[in-house]
Amino acid sequence: MIDAERIRKDFPIFQAHPRMVYLDSAATSQRPAAVIDAVSNFYRKYNANVARGLYKIAEEATLGYENVRKKTQMFIKARSDAEIIFTKNSTEGANLVMRGWGAKFIRKGDKIVTTLMEHHSDFVPWQQLAKMSGAKFEVVGLDDDGALDQDDLGRKLKGAKLFAFSSASNVLGIRYDAKALCALAREAGALSVVDGAQSVPSMPTDVKAMGCDFLFFSGHKMLAPFGSGVLYGREELLEKMDPFLYGSSMIRMVTKERTQWNDVPHKFEAGTPIVDAVVGLGAAIDYLEGLGMGEVQKHEEMLIAYMLKRLGEVRGLDIIGPQSASARTGLVAFSLEGVHPHDVSAMLAEDDICVRSGHHCAMPLHGHLGIPASTRASVYIYNRKEDIDALAASLQKVRKVFG
Ligand SMILES: Cc1ncc(COP(=O)(O)O)c(C=O)c1O
Repeated sequence: MIDAERIRKDFPIFQAHPRMVYLDSAATSQRPAAVIDAVSNFYRKYNANVARGLYKIAEEATLGYENVRKKTQMFIKARSDAEIIFTKNSTEGANLVMRGWGAKFIRKGDKIVTTLMEHHSDFVPWQQLAKMSGAKFEVVGLDDDGALDQDDLGRKLKGAKLFAFSSASNVLGIRYDAKALCALAREAGALSVVDGAQSVPSMPTDVKAMGCDFLFFSGHKMLAPFGSGVLYGREELLEKMDPFLYGSSMIRMVTKERTQWNDVPHKFEAGTPIVDAVVGLGAAIDYLEGLGMGEVQKHEEMLIAYMLKRLGEVRGLDIIGPQSASARTGLVAFSLEGVHPHDVSAMLAEDDICVRSGHHCAMPLHGHLGIPASTRASVYIYNRKEDIDALAASLQKVRKVFG
């Protein structure tokens, strides 16, 4: 079981701001000392460029960087570390698939399918790919409870070449059945691209069991430094893809006339990588595995069940997405009748409560919900029930002020 009180001691930010109630981990998580120290240690002890020098610290840096690739492979249960590409975030992962696979294999008249609940990072690349290639762009609708409309999904997947969806929504908070959705894509002959930005930090991930072709996520939402992201891709697909960026490191041989690409995954990592961030990602994975991802999921479910109960007590508060914690990841978005979401978060900030208001980079979804914006509270391993009590008390104050 996760002991959030003990965990908080590992996070220097909570010592710097003892009264702060941080409920914005779906935007970015806080970082434990182990991650901060790993980055600092890298600069203090073995800072050098990777895959270049033959001297001791250069070899240590290369080894450190490549070890994180192996660690990441184990963390998401990929078949080989060649299937792990370091990116700077989820957005780059989606764009890499769009440029590397999409621009090569999607043709005029093909069909690309995504869903209405996507973050812009998993929506705009596919919409633009369709525009570039002349492919059809189909968006699967949602049921009233936020589930994917199964009839619409079945219809739209027919004849599709690519299906991109999030394994957890950053607004509805729903965890979708990624395994079943990947199977449907496969049956339809489409490749599956899974946006794991909100699910990978919160639950065990097994890409083999999921059966996805690609999955991307961001380190900064799971304790790691900004600038650490991962794209997983099945090796045979990565082999067939073109590089996304050209330049150094991604080449085997260059002449005046032509260039031969490096092996995967290096083919996709042009230029000097963000070595410190990747080293920090390794420390973040160690920290999370020390807790156990199953425990992380249980802790979030416990907190979200409590949050749903406490938010339900606030008059005029409308919870977006399901009322049950079991189908949810660690976030709840809501609107408060008669109060603009920005006023909600500004008033909560006066009580040192950090939440996020806006469209959460999901404008098509907010359009579907018929609201321009919402407020979102999200939890992680360091949150306690008392953080949620503070949120509920502060929302009651907002209610009083706005009537
Ligand atoms: C579901 C989802 N996808 C993609 C992203 C984009 O992540 P990043 O900004 O790290 O690229 C986010 C970030 O909030 C997200 O929640």
